[in-house]
Amino acid sequence: MKSILLSGVTVIICFCCGFILVSAQQKEKEQGKAISKDVSQIITRSCVACHSDKGSGMAKMKVNFDKWQGYPADKQVKIAQKCYQEVSKGSMPPKGFIKKNPGAVLSPEEIDVFRNW
Ligand code: HEC
Repeated sequence: MKSILLSGVTVIICFCCGFILVSAQQKEKEQGKAISKDVSQIITRSCVACHSDKGSGMAKMKVNFDKWQGYPADKQVKIAQKCYQEVSKGSMPPKGFIKKNPGAVLSPEEIDVFRNW
């Protein structure tokens, strides 16, 4: 009797865990992916000064990395492509910003990281 009860409880626990796991995965799919570590390191150093909640109006309207997790997957893909275009042209980070923050300039390797993003 006791063992039947025990296995019943086990089944219920497994069922609940599976359900939580599946719904978590679905949520992730809708919301798109997190930014990989190598890209986010560069973004944190060179982009979030403007492209974040505490950044400037125009910049955060176009791209806000603080809201990244809330962007749908297709929007994330578009932004990732756009970011590579901007950094490979050298228009992001803006020249005026680099003048004041020379450390924010992207090396060719870092631009490659954006290409492979
Ligand atoms: C000094 C502030 C500043 C920094 C730093 C900065 N940006 Fe921007 N960014 C802007 C502004 C302002 C705009 C909107 C005006 C524009 O499109 O030129 C913008 C626009 C953009 C856009 C949209 C362009 C378009 O035409 O839709 C992308 C993509 C972008 N930035 C990527 C980046 C990336 C990637 C970095 C870091 C490597 C970065 N930015 C760093 C200020 C900044």
